Amino acid sequence: MQPHLSLIGHKMSQLTGVRAIMKDIVETLQSEPGKWTNLSAGNPLILPEVEAMWREYTQKLLAGPDFGEVVGRYGASQGYMPLIDAVVDWFNTHYHWGITRRNVLITPGSQALYFYAANCFGGYDAEGRLRKIVLPLSPDYTGYGGVTLTTESLHAYKPAIDIVAPHRFKYRPDFDQLHIGETTGAVLFSRPGNPTGNVLTDTEVQRIVDLAAAYNVPVLIDSAYALPFPNLVFTAMTPVFGENVLHCMSLSKAGLPGERVGIAIGDERNIHALECFQANAAIHSSRYGQALAAQAINSGELARLSETVIKPHYQHKAEVLTAALDREMPDDVPWYLHKAEGAIFAWLWLKDLPISDKQLYQEIKKEHVIVVPGASFFPGLNEDWPHKEQCLRISLTATGEELGAGAAAIARVVKRVYGG
Ligand SMILES: Cc1ncc(COP(=O)(O)O)c(C=O)c1O
Repeated sequence: MQPHLSLIGHKMSQLTGVRAIMKDIVETLQSEPGKWTNLSAGNPLILPEVEAMWREYTQKLLAGPDFGEVVGRYGASQGYMPLIDAVVDWFNTHYHWGITRRNVLITPGSQALYFYAANCFGGYDAEGRLRKIVLPLSPDYTGYGGVTLTTESLHAYKPAIDIVAPHRFKYRPDFDQLHIGETTGAVLFSRPGNPTGNVLTDTEVQRIVDLAAAYNVPVLIDSAYALPFPNLVFTAMTPVFGENVLHCMSLSKAGLPGERVGIAIGDERNIHALECFQANAAIHSSRYGQALAAQAINSGELARLSETVIKPHYQHKAEVLTAALDREMPDDVPWYLHKAEGAIFAWLWLKDLPISDKQLYQEIKKEHVIVVPGASFFPGLNEDWPHKEQCLRISLTATGEELGAGAAAIARVVKRVYGG
């Protein structure tokens, strides 16, 4: 018998965004193990130097005096104080943000943070007005599709598209369309972005922050790939901070996705609201990963390995894939690769694609290559827009050979479907 679900229960028991297509991907990969070139993975790689660092701090924790306190006791909902202090010190020393403990919240991964924020700041308010969670530039992280308990509160805006070089493009926020006002609950975007690798410029971010500040609206800057850790940034960018900014970080791409460590830095009133939400939902996040993170931040090792190991690894992969696509793809087809400015994915736009992105995904599967069709990366963008079905996400977690083989396979399919 089906359970009787509430409206919220119904919404939350559906797979949203890319998780829906992931079911097909997992089944496909299992169907003929070893036969597939997998360019779909969202999981970051385990890089040996980074793993060794986490292992070392684990050993120190096990051998040290804090172990019992860390795993054997409940703690503050705000987070494990040594980690909070490490974050405060880091950002005051390196960015002069002038923050205190009250400006920091630790969550079980940053996904949880977006869930808390989307429902704290978004949804129906006491006057019955719908306060929207605004995504200023779509496409963006597919996980935002599931965070609002009030489905209709998520609202995304189409971007402006700049062709920046032959076969290269970049999305920009379309400030002529973007509306932030009385009924905006919060603004949310990833920088660098998943799936595109786009980095909004400092000026663009400041403009969004200023628009939102006029209405006292928090701006959540999802910095899951940003500096200082994991520092998956291949272009110039500065973390932007301000009274209405919630700077949101994750240690997942710095080698710790299993430990679920998310960090929010912001105005203490916003942090307090989110902390209470967390106390109700989860009491607090697991302290084990937080204790490792405190050591890795304090020693400077996390920032150092981010700069010297994590960033160069993925930047090199982005260069390998770009070169392979330039070599293999037909010049007379209007294909465009998003400018690789960061993160762990490449984003390919096939303008005027004669079939849908899902059909293209199936065609590419026939070549034993798996990519992710792009349509699930437009959460909150309800209007029809052909572009939504013209894109693919390619993971940079694959090896150089796999990226080369994948690019060749995509090129063969593209030639076929465009009739070239
Ligand atoms: C842009 C972005 N934000 C947030 C997350 C969620 O990360 P976590 O909950 O592991 O911190 C991801 C995960 O892939 C991501 O790509």
